[in-house]
Amino acid sequence: MILPGLVDVHVHLRSPGGEHKEDFRTGSAAALAGGFTTLLAMPNTQPPLVSLDYWRVAQNQAISQSLCDVFLYAGASAEHLDQLPLLSARAPALKIYLDQTYGPLRVRGLNALEEVMAGWNVDKPICLHAEEESVAVGIALAAVFGRHIHFCHVSRRSEIELIARAKERGLPVTCEVTPHHLFLNENDARRLGPYGDMRPALASSGDQAALWEHINSTVDCIASDHAPHTRAEKERPEGAPPGVPGLESTLPLMLTAVAQGRLSAGRLEELLARNPRRIFNLPEQAETWVEVDPEAEFVFPEHPLYTKCGWSPFEGMRLRGRITRVVLRGREVVRDGIVLNYQKL
Ligand code: DOR
Ligand code: ZN
Ligand code: ZN
Repeated sequence: MILPGLVDVHVHLRSPGGEHKEDFRTGSAAALAGGFTTLLAMPNTQPPLVSLDYWRVAQNQAISQSLCDVFLYAGASAEHLDQLPLLSARAPALKIYLDQTYGPLRVRGLNALEEVMAGWNVDKPICLHAEEESVAVGIALAAVFGRHIHFCHVSRRSEIELIARAKERGLPVTCEVTPHHLFLNENDARRLGPYGDMRPALASSGDQAALWEHINSTVDCIASDHAPHTRAEKERPEGAPPGVPGLESTLPLMLTAVAQGRLSAGRLEELLARNPRRIFNLPEQAETWVEVDPEAEFVFPEHPLYTKCGWSPFEGMRLRGRITRVVLRGREVVRDGIVLNYQKL
């Protein structure tokens, strides 16, 4: 089976400031190993990417250090409103955190939210980390201001059903779901402990079922929310940071879902390549494709992981669908699970 180069619109590559967890080199190697040739990286770094200066330095680093194409989100901060028009001219999308998660970025209050949206004065997606009633806030903003709102990692039945109804009414909203919310639920969270903790947290089996019910309709993209933290950080007795890696497990998991008849191969291509490229207006990559053996069965992971954190909540899962080859701009970059011309440091 041949797929186009995949696009992950939601990854945390941790640079600047968190390079002990991941960096552009290791994160993009994990991407290629997982079939992704284009990434959109989140701005909740240290410092966060809320000013043109920080954003530009990080974007230049991403270009020089990454093995695939990496674009950086602009981060929304009520303290840096003057930066938003500058960022909006360059970044493919804006990220606003409406709820508490990892890192300092959060926009509180309706005034601040309206000011941030006014500052982002271009027709590029405004992406929300929104949970529960914050999803309704996002839908209201899309309705009142006519702006394209993209909901990150939708995880609950209430949320996906509200988004479905917003779409029925023709509102300019799109959304993504993660493989961890599709394949894991709160029972797995108990089993995995800190390795199954992320925001939004794993939900009930009813919420999980709802995401599958909407996989062929309301859902626009699958995104990994690749959020690596070290084992030492996850084991910290005083509390672990939320987040799980996902770049290397996403395609095998979704191929497994295809093998189970939950979606078609064509739909997988839409969710992992065509829709993300269209929604975020990302450039096509010539002579770029991913070869997979959809019949191959194995226990994940088959090879040592490329993500610097070195673990996965899906370890030990029996999956169906192996990535055999990745070609990026005419160059073979992955063969049989190995990223070519790459030294693990
Ligand atoms: O679990 C999460 N981890 N959710 C987020 O929204 C942020 C992320 C991170 O950066 O680690
Ligand atoms: Zn988030
Ligand atoms: Zn995230």
